[in-house]
Amino acid sequence: MLNHVFTTPILRDKAGMTPEQCAEACKYLLGLRAASPGETKSNRGGWHSTGNLFSPDHTQFPAMRAAVTSALFGYIGEVFGYSGEIALALTGWTVINRPGDYNVPHNHAANLLSGALYLSVPEGMKGGAIIFQDPRLNLNAHETEGMRRLKVKPPWMNPTVSVQPSEGEILVFPSWANHWVEPYECDDPEALRIVVSFNTAVN
Ligand SMILES: [Fe+2]
Repeated sequence: MLNHVFTTPILRDKAGMTPEQCAEACKYLLGLRAASPGETKSNRGGWHSTGNLFSPDHTQFPAMRAAVTSALFGYIGEVFGYSGEIALALTGWTVINRPGDYNVPHNHAANLLSGALYLSVPEGMKGGAIIFQDPRLNLNAHETEGMRRLKVKPPWMNPTVSVQPSEGEILVFPSWANHWVEPYECDDPEALRIVVSFNTAVN
């Protein structure tokens, strides 16, 4: 019997928001951008909101909150095998990137789970993927001359995994997972990649 151990479960799913709900959320977030300089975290360029989008200050997001909560409970049920009552603290922020903007490697330590909800992905976007880094050490230790000659790649020999997001998709991943976001190009220099990122911890 073969057991896969040391796995890093990453959920990727349709968020369940309609295009109209995504567009409405984008409009609201663009309004926040117009009213504040934002802050710089992992983003290089782009606009990063301040505060918590899931606080009572922002009650415009019932569909988005429902989508995020549903994905988190789906993950907890499937990965942790837990389906009981659980109170989750939720924090969220938006990153609005333009062509050329990107996010440097980081993780969301001191949380349980993190994720990203893609509200707007430019049509024909080249690049703009989120890249996850394999957290295991010494992954290249098998690389002997014999293995190089065989040209066989063990399945663990992928130091990164790239996820090309689509509009309306949601990701949930362990908060310790290092990741970054590639810059992108597209024909429309004004086209925006708008993501709501979130953290959750058990209350
Ligand atoms: Fe992140």
